[in-house]
Order: sequence, then C-alpha cells, then structure tokens
Amino acid sequence: MLSREDNELLCRVGPGTPTGTLLRHYWLPFLFDWEIEADAEPQRVRLLGEDLIAFRDSLGRVGLLDDHCAHRGASLFFGRNEECGLRCVYHGWKYDVDGRCVDMPNEPPESTFKDKIRHTAYPCLERGGVVWAYLGPQTPPPPLPHFEWMDLLPEQRYGSKRVQYSNWVQAMEGDIDQSHVSFVHSRLNLDDETELRFRTGGPRRLVDQIRKNDTHPHFEVVETDYGVCIGAGREAGDGARYWRITQHLMPFHTMTGPYGENPTRGWRAWVPVDDEQVFVLGITFHPTRPLADDEVDRQANRSGVWNISPEMRMPVSSQPYGRWRPRPSLENDFFQDRQVQRTKTYSGISEFWAQDAAPQLSMGAITDRTREHLGTSDLAIITVRRRLLAAAKQMQEHGTAPPETERPDCYLIRSDALLLPAAQSWFAASEERRKVMAGVNPSCPA
Ligand code: FES
Ligand SMILES: [Fe+2]
Repeated sequence: MLSREDNELLCRVGPGTPTGTLLRHYWLPFLFDWEIEADAEPQRVRLLGEDLIAFRDSLGRVGLLDDHCAHRGASLFFGRNEECGLRCVYHGWKYDVDGRCVDMPNEPPESTFKDKIRHTAYPCLERGGVVWAYLGPQTPPPPLPHFEWMDLLPEQRYGSKRVQYSNWVQAMEGDIDQSHVSFVHSRLNLDDETELRFRTGGPRRLVDQIRKNDTHPHFEVVETDYGVCIGAGREAGDGARYWRITQHLMPFHTMTGPYGENPTRGWRAWVPVDDEQVFVLGITFHPTRPLADDEVDRQANRSGVWNISPEMRMPVSSQPYGRWRPRPSLENDFFQDRQVQRTKTYSGISEFWAQDAAPQLSMGAITDRTREHLGTSDLAIITVRRRLLAAAKQMQEHGTAPPETERPDCYLIRSDALLLPAAQSWFAASEERRKVMAGVNPSCPA
C-alpha cells in the first residue's frame, strides 16, 4: 500500500506536479511516423495533461505546439498546414515548428509584433518509425533512449497503440505482474484448442501447463541503472524452474519475456495522456529477420497487450489518438460472456488487452492504494513504485534529473525466459542473453 500523499505524488502528471516534472525529463513516444504527413491535417495530441497540436511541415519536420493560439486562444487544430508552418484559421497567425510566429497578416506589414511572439513548441525527434516529444526544460534536450528495435529495418518491426481510460501507473503495473497470467488470461481446459482464438500467438503447451501447476511464482528483483529487472520463477517439474524476466525501464517502458524458437520480441511504453488516461504504444520486432506474414497478421488483426482487434475499435475520430480507442469498456462490461467464463476461459472476456483493462478500470480511474494488501507476488510492483517515487522526490527536492536520461545506451537490453535447475541464479544465467547482440536471438520455452 501507499500513503494517500505518495499515491497522489506517483499518479498525477500535470505541469508542476512532482511526477509530472519527472516525466518531462524523459522523451515521450506518441505517434507513428505514418500517422502524420507533410502539409496534411494537424492532429490533436494530449500528453501529461497538456493539449497540443502536432503537424508535419513542408520540409517533413514534426512540430508540436500548444493547442491554443497565442493571439486569442483559438485551437490550432482548425489551422492550415501550409508552406512550412501552421496558420491559425481565426486571424491567420502562422507558426513554424519551433513556435516562432512567422506571419501576422492582420497587423500592418511594418509591425514587428510577430517577432515578440514565442508560442510553446516542444522538440520532436523520429527514430525507428516513432515520433518522440520532449516536454522538459533542458535545452538542448537529453538524447533519445536507445532501444534495440530502433536499429532494425522497418520490415523487422510492427507498431500499434491502445488508449486505456485509467491512470498510467495501474496500467503499467499490470505489465510487470507475472502472477496474474495464471488467472485472468488462462483457459479452463488446456486441451481445448478452440479456445486458442481467445489469445494471441500459438499454443504454449509447456508454459501454460507450468502456469497452471504453479500459480504462485517466486519473485526476485534487481535494481539496475535503467530501472528494475524482475525475475518470476515457477516450478517446472524435475527440479527445474521456469523463469520469466520482465524489464521495467524508467520511467514507463516494459519488456516481458518472449516465447519459442528464435522468437519475436516486444517493447512498450505506457505514456500518460493525463491523470485518468494512458496509451500503450508497443512494437513487436524480430532482431534478425523481417516479420513473417502471420506475425504481422497477428499484430494487425488480433488482440494483444497493445493491439485492439479491428472490429473492437471505435470509429476513427479526430480526438487525440482517435484511431486507437476501444469499444469494450466498463459501460458494456468489456463484452464479458458468462457462458464462456463458465465453460472455457477464466475471465469470459475475449479481447486479450481487455482481460487486463477490465480489472484495472474497475479499480477506479486512480486506484486507492491506501486500501491495498500487497503480498509476496507484488514485489515487482512495490519496487518499481519505490523507484519512481524516489526519482520524483529527488527531482522535487534537489532538481536533479535521473542519470539514465543522459545514458541512452543503458536502454539497450532484452527481456528473457528460460528453464533452469532450481538452485541456479536466474540473473547470472541470463546475463549474456539479456544483452543486445547483433545476429543473436536466444530461444525461450513455449
Ligand atoms: S486566435 Fe489565432 S490568429 Fe487570432
Ligand atoms: Fe495481462
């Protein structure tokens, strides 16, 4: 549990809040490059409680401006994106990607008033097909974190997004919690092949059986320079243990262990839209080859942690992230089917992500952590909260940004999953496997 004060401190992300200030020292991924075209319509964006407008100018640069025009506050969403700038539709003031007012056609031509205007504009960078924004105070901004998928060819990765109507912390906590997979994501009868359609990926005979047999993984955590490395071990029979290694990378990135021979891998970011909304932006990638058609198809057409299946999406809208909003919600009980719950799956909820989102939203938009009762299986969550709170307090008291913001290569790591003799240390045994090595992609149990 947390005190009321610490819960507030951890969850609130608006300007001036301690965690909001902390998060502004990290780069935030928010759009895929294909979502924003040169001289095309601007897009509404909301990050850390700030309403912003993104556009790509005639030279291909992405701008991210305060939504409200510096003149009299009209939304720049209605603006004209033309000739290297975004022009407010009300009186024609025009801004470039740096927030300079480059034209003020409703003032006399000899006026220098426009030179005095500096509209809020946040720097953006593109890497690995993703547009990143920096909302912090540092000029120049710190380097982008360096993730393995950024160095791969476009055909080796596939990205997707999903909006969730809850605070970002409780959404992210679901991703570092290996203990829930024995329950909410499980099938009642492992031999029931028809139920495989309720999940992503193919059959995982061994891992599913291990999760069914041992429902109380033993957790161990190691604090690292990038965040927290989490081991969750389950009895696998014959004196062996199945260890799944989840990485939490400051402040909101996660990577869970892969499955199978020469596996695809996943990375995601849980980016706060505001205090009561988050989106998860995820990339599936293969370190050594292009993704196969069925791997792309699974990402594009089936549900997963960060994928909404196409028929379960809301119609595309111009609201922030309006392409990535789901239909299943608390109001429709996430389309839970009680008959399926009685006979086939633990939850009766078909969308994979919704099996997580239903319990997470049911906690309330910001869960009251003063009322929790945390057990041994919550060790990872406790450790990550502590890390975030310590960083936010350090920032609040001393104004110092965490060192990882200046160490992009500490993000160059992998998650893992492996079978080991019970006495062996998972952290030592996975040391080489957790390194990013070109052309090397260790296999994992499935
Ligand atoms: S409000 Fe934007 S130009 Fe007047
Ligand atoms: Fe889950």
